[in-house]
Amino acid sequence: MELTGKRIALGVTGGIAAYKAAELVRLLIKQGATVQVVMTDAATHFVTPVTFQALSGKPVFTDLWTPCVANNMAHIDLSREADALLIAPASADFVAKLANGLADDLLSTLTLARSCPLLVAPAMNLQMWTNPATQRNIATLLGDGVAILGPASGDQACGEIGLGRMIEAEEIVADLIAFFQPKVLAGKKLLLTAGPTFEAIDPVRGITNLSSGKMGFALARAAQEAGAQVTLVCGPVSQPTPRGITRIDVISALEMHAAVMRHAATQDVFIGVAAVADYRPSTAAEHKIKKDGQSAPAIELIQNPDILAEVAALPTPPLCVGFAAETRNLAEYAQKKRIAKKIPLIVGNLIEHGFGGDDNTLILFDENGQLPLTPAPKLELARQLMARIATLLENR
Ligand code: C5P
Repeated sequence: MELTGKRIALGVTGGIAAYKAAELVRLLIKQGATVQVVMTDAATHFVTPVTFQALSGKPVFTDLWTPCVANNMAHIDLSREADALLIAPASADFVAKLANGLADDLLSTLTLARSCPLLVAPAMNLQMWTNPATQRNIATLLGDGVAILGPASGDQACGEIGLGRMIEAEEIVADLIAFFQPKVLAGKKLLLTAGPTFEAIDPVRGITNLSSGKMGFALARAAQEAGAQVTLVCGPVSQPTPRGITRIDVISALEMHAAVMRHAATQDVFIGVAAVADYRPSTAAEHKIKKDGQSAPAIELIQNPDILAEVAALPTPPLCVGFAAETRNLAEYAQKKRIAKKIPLIVGNLIEHGFGGDDNTLILFDENGQLPLTPAPKLELARQLMARIATLLENR
């Protein structure tokens, strides 16, 4: 329920993607938002107002001249009461209207009369999207401080393939949730590692750590929501990449080390969340090792580089944050790691309930001692950590 209490005015314009707006209303309501739908006349040719009325639980407005509005000021009231005005889908024609400040129907009038932020999810054919006129209009809207969500690339209803599709309803909701988060890391660059690493013994076997990558991905999303430019280096995990994040996939600790060191010097923040294997086999066999029926093979291990400690030792290091997952003596081990790696903050958790859950219990360790956070979903904790990191950056 990430949008509880938020009042969203949703404008639907005429395009085949209007059918996706029905799902969008359902998802917004599921997140706790109140949704007031306003449709252009063209939109009603694709989906009927009754659909949106049933999903939003509110009458749908389509007409500037509705006599049932008490003061005849629907255009002012609808956007005055909203926390955000979202237009999805926004047709090429409607984007052009917005860019030029036209107000010749209810939706364009209430958009012009709004005092709340405006988010626009364009949806149109590839040629219409790439047309210089549309690109000019989009640039104007961006210059006016309008948030443009998408568009995506892919199959189009007209049979073409390319940019112009409206992004999916779930993505619009994620963007809207992100929009409401405080931009405490605006303009900052944040690099983080996530997931396990995998150290090959032979082509089919290896040494790894248990890690779902969920905490790292939650942190990446929270950092992006907070306005940071995020680069995520991750080991083998099956997590979807949050939109707008640069993801670099690696397998081994050495690959992770190389990827991190390529980017670290230009970052404001580095968070080592990955469960990096401390050791790797000194050599990986070229072919699958076979049982010879006699002795078990001995695997010689050598130490992997400590990525976090190396980043912290750079001449002008980013603000470094580490993670420590322990099965016992959490405070003692976490503080020892923090001091050994020369980092200001380490986030610890006791491995009590296994791996891969959606919630976590975290304790922050810094030079002043420890601060337990209330157990919460990983994304919620990740947002709290971003606020903490922003404060540390300010006081650096
Ligand atoms: O493995 P260890 O318990 O030392 O991990 C503590 C922190 O150090 C974690 O943030 C982890 O991502 C980081 N680390 C690293 N490179 C390693 C080992 C750990 O960056 N080789």
